[in-house]
Amino acid sequence: MQNSGMDSVATPPAAVDISGKTSDPNAGLRGNYAEMAADFTVQQRMSDYTDAEQARWLRLVERQLALIPGRACDEFLDAVLGNPALDMRHGIPDFADVNVALKAATNWQLVAVPGLLPDDVFFTHLANRRFPVTVWLREESEFDYIVEPDIFHDFFGHVPMLFTPIYADHLEAYGHGALKAKRLGGLDWLGRLYWFTIEFGLIREHGKVLAYGAGILSSPKELIYAVDSGIPRHIPFDVMTSMRTKYLIDDVQSTYFVLDSLQQLRDDTAPDFTPYYDILHAEGA
Ligand code: PHE
Ligand code: FE
Repeated sequence: MQNSGMDSVATPPAAVDISGKTSDPNAGLRGNYAEMAADFTVQQRMSDYTDAEQARWLRLVERQLALIPGRACDEFLDAVLGNPALDMRHGIPDFADVNVALKAATNWQLVAVPGLLPDDVFFTHLANRRFPVTVWLREESEFDYIVEPDIFHDFFGHVPMLFTPIYADHLEAYGHGALKAKRLGGLDWLGRLYWFTIEFGLIREHGKVLAYGAGILSSPKELIYAVDSGIPRHIPFDVMTSMRTKYLIDDVQSTYFVLDSLQQLRDDTAPDFTPYYDILHAEGA
């Protein structure tokens, strides 16, 4: 997940505004922001992960792997079940190893980060085909639910889809589009589009509605709720509707947008959004 809103670069963590991420305005940021580079990247030190963290990772992975067949889209399942670089049952993934396979597949790279990033830093990584992955793992008390992104959310939820070329190209385009939206004052709206696609998107494949959004794919509760329960609304994906729809950051969604294909996502986001922002601005959306 990534939806913070702030302006400055390479400032101390206290300046990173996560007010969009949590209802607690005093919530601090975890992660070691002291040792990062100017682009907010850090080293992933595999030896820093404790045995308890490795064991917790395996339990998280096993639980979620048991739930994804029949609920995750084909692209996600093919990557997770078919690509040896994504065999997460060996333990917490070493980004350097995954990067070899990812570079060959779509020319993306993972970069290790201490946690949430200033929005322009995050978008600049995406625009350069670098996906920021948080290095730390959630605490045991957060086993079932975490608001802030950790390595399980970022890796299990986001990384497999990066192996699909059309999705990978879309996410780079999103990064450029977000930097442009920031200049045009359209970031809140484009952030909603990210939320309802990259994080909480559903897609229809061979007649079934399946998950491709990382926030759904990394959450046992939301995966079942969004795909199987019949409770939330499933509405056809539409760029402007998604940008007009407010979202909850600390509960399951009441509405999910359903794509007909990843090509639809690519095509519908290809036009210049400048006039869209003008309309939304006039509406006060
Ligand atoms: N086409 C959009 C623009 O011109 C940018 C964009 C690309 C937005 C991909 C979302 C996804 O602003
Ligand atoms: Fe995410």
